[in-house]
Amino acid sequence: MTDGKQFKTEEWWKTGVIYQIYPFTFADANGDGVGDLKGIIQRLDYLNDGNPESETSLGIDAIWLSPINQSPMVDNGYDVSDYYDISPTFGTLEDFDALVAESHKRGVKVILDLVINHTSNQHEWFIESSTSKDNPKHDWYLWQDPEPDGGLPNNWLSYFGGPGWTFSEARGQYYFHTFNKNQPDLNWRNPEVRQAIYAMIRFWLDKGVDGFRLDASSVFSKDEFYRYNPVKFGATDKNAYHNQHHLYDKDLPENHEIIREIRQITDEYEDRLLIGETFIDSRLYDSTIFYGVNNDELHLPFAFEFSFSPWYPGYLQREIEKKELITPAGAWPTYFLDNHDIPRHLSRWVECSLCTNPTEIAKAAGALLLTTRGTPVLYYGQEIGMVDYVDMPSDKSRDTAVMDDHGGALPSSRDGARTPMQWDDSVNAGFSFGKPVDPWLPVNPNYFEVNVQRDLADKTSILNFYRLLLKVRKNSEALRLGSWRTLIHYPDEHLAYVRETDHEKVLVIINFSYEKPFVVDSYIEPENWLVLASNILEAGKLIDLPDTLHPFEVAILRKE
Ligand code: GLC
Repeated sequence: MTDGKQFKTEEWWKTGVIYQIYPFTFADANGDGVGDLKGIIQRLDYLNDGNPESETSLGIDAIWLSPINQSPMVDNGYDVSDYYDISPTFGTLEDFDALVAESHKRGVKVILDLVINHTSNQHEWFIESSTSKDNPKHDWYLWQDPEPDGGLPNNWLSYFGGPGWTFSEARGQYYFHTFNKNQPDLNWRNPEVRQAIYAMIRFWLDKGVDGFRLDASSVFSKDEFYRYNPVKFGATDKNAYHNQHHLYDKDLPENHEIIREIRQITDEYEDRLLIGETFIDSRLYDSTIFYGVNNDELHLPFAFEFSFSPWYPGYLQREIEKKELITPAGAWPTYFLDNHDIPRHLSRWVECSLCTNPTEIAKAAGALLLTTRGTPVLYYGQEIGMVDYVDMPSDKSRDTAVMDDHGGALPSSRDGARTPMQWDDSVNAGFSFGKPVDPWLPVNPNYFEVNVQRDLADKTSILNFYRLLLKVRKNSEALRLGSWRTLIHYPDEHLAYVRETDHEKVLVIINFSYEKPFVVDSYIEPENWLVLASNILEAGKLIDLPDTLHPFEVAILRKE
């Protein structure tokens, strides 16, 4: 457990709330059906208008944009063809500068997605590298000769399905791709590649970007001898990717050297943040290794265990306790429930037996995310209870990178969680500001009931509860920085935990189910608690701890 008092200053990325935007579907200003940077600017006030007392803003502290660089969009931007430019789909470099300026004006930081494990096969580096075995960039990607019988160089697979190797006629060789065949992996053992990427990183830092989310940051480095991955004994998963131990194509020790080098660059600038997507398969490590032995790698490593936990108190508490236990001293946890790669949490949890009331589950999940010790990351639309559009017509699909090749690690299309943001009940949920165009992905038909405008007007809405949670968190040292301690060691149907600093003690109670007695295993003073936020109790009221919890009750109480 880390005590809040050990932090001298409150770094923004420890205390702030990050909001992920999927630019294709957040807001479409030019009315072409595809989201754009100008659209994001027009909606910034909703995210944070710079007024802490705002009646309409969510109050987030940073936006993370999924990729906006030039790209043929095979993987919707996660296949970059020019790192120095913005895709015309989203706007121009001037639009980007304006977005940074407008965000900063409101006290909002801007984080970019940095896709550097691979480029697009349309990137000029790859085009050049593919021409021959002796061009100047011949070694910028992972090229290997066929086996003597013409077969694949080894058994490495693509995460998106099928073999990880694709043959190039021009070179008479195979190149490796962790993802789609249009996303060739860079050769990070080549110092020229590193220098080229590092120069690009400086370009964006010089532009005032506040940090990066390193895409696929646990697979940059691959085995230099291209050894075969061991096959799991008796494994028969239909996603063949899961049948291997990814010992030689993932999580290699050399990966850490690369992240350390990137961290050194970001550390040359003031107050910059490095997040990374860490998916750990080899079982050699857990994701905390990505903090670095001396806390000199990622500030915030994303790990998926908490997000993939079922909606049961015991499982969620286990993940939090695990993180409390393994987060190294001086390092800082981070939590998210949703992102652009996984079904939204209200859709994931719809099957569970406790999930009878989605609105209250959304509030409880939001409370958990925003009161656990660590930096919370929200995914656009989560704050209004958006769910996956599961019955989306298949001819509308955009996630072709995954659907092209089956048998990968991802079960199916990720489109359901990427539908347009639901702003109001006008045409296309206000995504194109009233223009009746065909949106990039269809709007979830539930937008008449689930939208920002409706939620803002309803005091009991999910959005207003999120707004309150963000405000309470901002005003509470204990919730931002305090230690985390559970009051229940074997949670059955509720969680109760304390966040505490030298100056403040906050108790969080979340009931996952029907009316229950409020039972805790550890002593807690019963008198004099001020209600900071609750879906049942009146905020601002002084109470003694209850004997009974209402169905789905959430209460955040401060000791007076
Ligand atoms: C990451 C991204 C995902 C993308 C993949 C390839 O996992 O989150 O959306 O498809 O990397 O870049």
